[in-house]
Order: sequence, then structure tokens, then C-alpha cells
Amino acid sequence: MITRFFAKTETLAEKLNLDYVSDLNILDHSSAIFDFDSNSNSVSNLYDPQLFLHLLLDEKPDRLSFDLADGEVAKRASQVSKSNEVIAKAIGCKSHYRPNVLDATAGMGRDSLVMAMLGCKVVMQERNFAIFHLLKNALERLKNDSLSLCQQDSIQSLAADKQIDVIYLDPMFPDRKKTALVKKEMRLFKLLTGNDIDSDQLLLSALKSKVNRVVVKRPKGSSFLSDKKPSHEIKSKKFRYDVYLC
Ligand SMILES: C[S@@+](CC[C@H](N)C(=O)[O-])C[C@H]1O[C@@H](n2cnc3c(N)ncnc32)[C@H](O)[C@@H]1O
Repeated sequence: MITRFFAKTETLAEKLNLDYVSDLNILDHSSAIFDFDSNSNSVSNLYDPQLFLHLLLDEKPDRLSFDLADGEVAKRASQVSKSNEVIAKAIGCKSHYRPNVLDATAGMGRDSLVMAMLGCKVVMQERNFAIFHLLKNALERLKNDSLSLCQQDSIQSLAADKQIDVIYLDPMFPDRKKTALVKKEMRLFKLLTGNDIDSDQLLLSALKSKVNRVVVKRPKGSSFLSDKKPSHEIKSKKFRYDVYLC
């Protein structure tokens, strides 16, 4: 698991309060290095450079970055509608109503982006240092006013003061048996976050807060978080949403 972070430019080191290193060769199993994309010639990159985290996967150098403004994720987000997104039903969207959502496990920001494209205001919380900075950079490049982000452990604070209607939780799924099938991006992601072994506690904190609805995204066939039976379940092709009406 990665526990030590460095930056490859002095400006970035100062910005993220990290030690500066000039060479990627110092990478080992417990360290990772932030750097801006130096290969892109695009004009937007001059103003909003994409942030990458270099790390080792299976002994080989690799890198992780989030992009919400371009590629597959952006394409999917542009096609979002209430009728074709199961998540819309799970968070309680109605024809003339969109809830304010706290995404307490922001991760790569993909579910938040879908909820924002549905018309919700979304406050995102992410506790992991590296994931937070990669996501912050993706949001700076996306420029969408419906999304805001803070670095926060959601077990400690669930933004009770922010007029939230729904708390959305998507903690890391347990390890799958066929690890070869897990996408490379998810393997890199897991080197940073590990398994969210305290997710039972996160659900209990969410249920104690004063929101109307808590939604948990789970793999199909998995147990309920904290063995708490939800008010109802909504199934999609790949996932299950456990909906707790409070
Ligand atoms: C599976 S990912 C979420 C993916 C996200 N839904 C998306 O669409 O990209 C889980 C994320 O939740 C974060 N997380 C887990 N427990 C948390 C907590 N108590 N507070 C804040 N973030 C948490 C992890 O660090 C990880 O980045």
C-alpha cells in the first residue's frame, strides 16, 4: 500500500506540501510521485494541466489520473437522463425534484458527476490524500458549479449543516476472487485506498445524521453493510442500491 508521496516539480511540491524529487526512479512499493502531464500539447493543458500520480504496479511504473471532462466518463455523463439511470431512482429524483446529495465516498467522482448531470447539487467528501488531489484536479478542469469537494473523513463529519437530502455511499467493494478481471485502473486505485474496512461504521454514522435518505451502492449478492436491512433495494445490471429511508 502507498504511504509516501512526493512531487516532481517544485511548484507542485509547494502546493501539495510534499518533498520534491527530480527523478521517477526512486519509486518503490510504498511511494508515489505527483506530476503534471508534460506530454500534452493541448491549449487547455497550458491553463489547467492534468495531474498524474506515478506508482509501481506489478513492479512496473504506471500512473493514475482522473478525467471527468473528456473520454468515456464524459460521454456517459452527457447521455444521462432520469429514466435511464437507476441511481436517479435510488436517490429519489422525481419529475420536478432533485435532491441535494452528499457523496461521502467521492473516489473518482463518477457517480457524483452522473448525479450532477441529473440536476442535483452534490457535495463530495474524500478522505484519501492522493485520491482527493487527483479528483480536485479533475474538477478544476471540468468546471461544473453543481459539484464541490472537500478532504474529509465522512465517519467524522457528515455535513449536517449543508442542507443535504441524501447521503450517498459507495465504499470499496470487497476483493473479487478473479483478480485478473479487475481493471488496471481499479488495481492502481486500491493501492492507494486499500479496502474500506470501516464501511459498516460509515453507514451507522450516516443513519445517525439528520437526512431523509441514505443510499449504499453494493455489489450484487453481497451482504448489507453493518447487517442493516434497507427499506428497499433497487437492482441494476451490475450493482444493488440499498435505500434507507430515515
Ligand atoms: C469505490 S470508491 C468510490 C467511487 C465513486 N463512487 C465513483 O463513482 O468514482 C470509494 C472511495 O471512498 C473513499 N472513502 C471510503 N470511506 C470514506 C470515508 N469514511 N470518508 C471519506 N471517504 C471515504 C475511499 O477513499 C475511496 O476513494
